[in-house]
Amino acid sequence: MSKKIVVITGSPRKNGNSFAMTDAFIKAAEAKGHSVTRFDAALKKVGGCRACETCFKTGKACSFDDDFNAIAPAILEADAVVFTMPVYWYSIPAQIKGVIDRLFSFVVGGRDIAGKECAVIACCEEEDLSVMDGVRVPLERSAALMKWTMVGEVLIPGVLNAGDIEKTDGCAQAAALADKF
Ligand SMILES: Cc1cc2nc3c(=O)[nH]c(=O)nc-3n(C[C@H](O)[C@H](O)[C@H](O)COP(=O)(O)O)c2cc1C
Repeated sequence: MSKKIVVITGSPRKNGNSFAMTDAFIKAAEAKGHSVTRFDAALKKVGGCRACETCFKTGKACSFDDDFNAIAPAILEADAVVFTMPVYWYSIPAQIKGVIDRLFSFVVGGRDIAGKECAVIACCEEEDLSVMDGVRVPLERSAALMKWTMVGEVLIPGVLNAGDIEKTDGCAQAAALADKF
């Protein structure tokens, strides 16, 4: 079955490791007939949630009208959402965290977002897989709260410089992730 997949990236490095895995995933997903909408959060303007709880009161998801409102309709309609990012300070990079925080607008706005599938693609410099916990755990718990099913996690440690991902099987794992949808 062809699905609508939204891919949200968090790296500012266009030639970086998570973008390479993202490209591999998208290529594989499209080859399987899925339609993919990509949102490069670090190349857009997305602030944090202001907790004003006026979501959808202006007709748009967020009353503070930045690029989140451009991707919000696609997220609402999506069958699946894939988050891709590097680890920054044992956590989720600020650039994509703004998008994640503002998923709150769907909850406050009473939108039906349950039942989506989701996945994560992440990388970091250090070799210890537990470094990924600060990305993996919040996404798993947020998915559970929203009643989304986490269908796959591609977590690639040991990559620092752009291009390092080619020394791993990260892109192959990201491509294989497309089989999970
Ligand atoms: C601001 C910043 C913070 C980082 N923090 C960590 C970290 O806490 N642990 C780690 O292993 N790597 C850390 N890294 C390294 C990146 O995760 C690593 O270089 C990754 O491959 C970058 O992915 P990208 O090429 O997709 O941007 C950090 C990099 C930056 C720029």
